[in-house]
Amino acid sequence: MNYFSCSCNQKMVDWIIVMDKAKLETRVHRLIFEGKGILAADESTGSIKKRFDSVGVASTPENHRLYRQMLFTTPNIKNFISGVILFDETIRQNTDGGIAFPDCLAKIGITPGIKVDMGAKDMANFPGEKITEGLDSLRERLSDYVNLGAEFTKWRAVIKIDKDLPTDGCIYANCEALARFAALSQEQDMVPIVEPEVLMEGSHTLERSAEVSKRMMKNLFIALSRHRVYIKGMLLKASWVHPGFDYPEKSDSKEIAKTTLRVFKEVLPDELPGVVFLSGGDSPEDSTDHLDKLNELENIPWKLSFSFGRALQEPALKAWVGKSENIAHAQQLFYERARLNSLARSGDY
Ligand code: 13P
Repeated sequence: MNYFSCSCNQKMVDWIIVMDKAKLETRVHRLIFEGKGILAADESTGSIKKRFDSVGVASTPENHRLYRQMLFTTPNIKNFISGVILFDETIRQNTDGGIAFPDCLAKIGITPGIKVDMGAKDMANFPGEKITEGLDSLRERLSDYVNLGAEFTKWRAVIKIDKDLPTDGCIYANCEALARFAALSQEQDMVPIVEPEVLMEGSHTLERSAEVSKRMMKNLFIALSRHRVYIKGMLLKASWVHPGFDYPEKSDSKEIAKTTLRVFKEVLPDELPGVVFLSGGDSPEDSTDHLDKLNELENIPWKLSFSFGRALQEPALKAWVGKSENIAHAQQLFYERARLNSLARSGDY
């Protein structure tokens, strides 16, 4: 970052911190490099417990460390993974050899990043809706993460679709928080991954998902512009435009891809460098297929990549089940999912 003195009312009053746009752009391009994607390994303490419970592994900090070490040290994984999103606990942990995880990743050419939101909490006066917290002291926490080696950040907002949801109040509050988070990240030359997750849980149709996604994105880019966020220095993390899991009529990947692209073209600025997708509860195979079909379409102004959590990790977690003798097999499965998603980046899955 660059510091400039500034004067106001003839008096030197402050230092203005100005983002380094070139540095942000370089970092963005490393993250969305051709054929690579981002591993979301930033499950909060509650989410990792759910994942570990599903395979009967005790959710302790040491088991989290062993599991993440297994993922990060998968041989040649850097061929398909450009960056990893870490959780606060993980960014402070080390490999068996005593190397801090961010340093271990950077050494093999993978950019370390960090989830900085403090979770989605019930929104007062808005039953059934969530607001993501974590803006208080964020500037100081970001400095700490820079010192620990993080080069990018993530903040997730959660938007639920129901008969009368989402409300304008929930959309406005979450977009404002996402934009403030993005501005604070860029101030310290960290690339913000801005994630307005429109949930796929529910019984809504594909068209209703399209309508809500469009409304959310439109408001988001207005908020980002209000907060002077440098669009070329950020990435959007999005859900597919997808019918609710409980809607009886399933859509195939071609339809999901076509509808997602239609909505994006209506609302996303061309200058946005890229969109990375979350998997949101779809199977690993379906998630890869959606991305593949999307990248088969023509005239796409942005790079379309992956930032999956479950869809990259699920087979490896099931194979690992906390046992060191399973590490090699689990790593093979993780490598294979990453390889297939790499192919989907060019529609070659
Ligand atoms: P899933 O791919 O498991 O949905 O997680 C991605 C993520 O980072 C959600 O914030």
